[in-house]
Amino acid sequence: MKPQLRSLLGISQLTTGQIEAILALARRMDLKRPPQLLRNRHVALLFYEASTRTRISFEFAAKALGATTTQVTPTSSSIEKGESLIDTGWTVANVGADAIVMRHPNSGAAYLLARYVHVPIVNAGDGMHQHPSQALLDALTITNHKKKLQGLRVVIVGDVYHSRVARSNAELLTRFGVDVVFCGPPDFVPEIAATLAPGVTACHDLNIALQGADVVMALRVQKERLVNKQLSVEEYIAEYQVTPLRMRLAKPDAILMHPGPVIRGMEVTSEVADGPQSCIHEQVRNGVKTRMAILATVLGAA
Ligand code: NCD
Repeated sequence: MKPQLRSLLGISQLTTGQIEAILALARRMDLKRPPQLLRNRHVALLFYEASTRTRISFEFAAKALGATTTQVTPTSSSIEKGESLIDTGWTVANVGADAIVMRHPNSGAAYLLARYVHVPIVNAGDGMHQHPSQALLDALTITNHKKKLQGLRVVIVGDVYHSRVARSNAELLTRFGVDVVFCGPPDFVPEIAATLAPGVTACHDLNIALQGADVVMALRVQKERLVNKQLSVEEYIAEYQVTPLRMRLAKPDAILMHPGPVIRGMEVTSEVADGPQSCIHEQVRNGVKTRMAILATVLGAA
């Protein structure tokens, strides 16, 4: 029997069976007639960091399943007065939340909260560390387009170093036999990045990395992080922007992914983001289904 998943904190805690079970449940979620699995349950959304997609898709997911939701943000709560993470977590749990979905700028914050609070915690992104729901929705998107994960070549390009999306995706995909190539300038893709998991390699030349790629996943690049680094914004764009010409280096049926928010003209051109290979909108739709499956799972309602 599979152990019951209590909190979703990171990919490494999941068995491959648990990953497959969440993806299978997500595929079965009917957004038009969602099963009312979470009626009378309360989900708190504790977001210490800005978010559009992740926050509203967890909210839609919880409500679609019949739960009520409460948003807690620093500017409209006692967090602003200096209340600690754990005290805020205790308060949210004691007013009656059955689960807490949390985003926090510090790596490990979700793990810390899960140690102190008696309700399931879903990590919606902790610092540079993990973003498990994003990796799960990305796996769902890839498997909608490719027969199997085994043997695929997934190129993750951009600021890998700061990216919890890159880390969670690489951990999940390599578990299923995917070759993951991290690509970007050395400051964004240090050689040590390749030691994250067997099956990960690092490459600093996008034109080489893209050859034979089945999936091109671009990451957000913050211009201010290029300041004082080896590359200017213009040089980054010249060497690492995903353009229509570069997409042609990948397999003809390659898909383009991006977790959002997309900075158009920086990591990808609008032609690519809006082009026929782009799955960016589908990723957002799959995010709702995946988060429905995650919430139903941690709340024991799957
Ligand atoms: C990402 C995040 O916040 O980690 N976005 C998201 O959740 N879809 C990526 C990013 O902000 O660059």
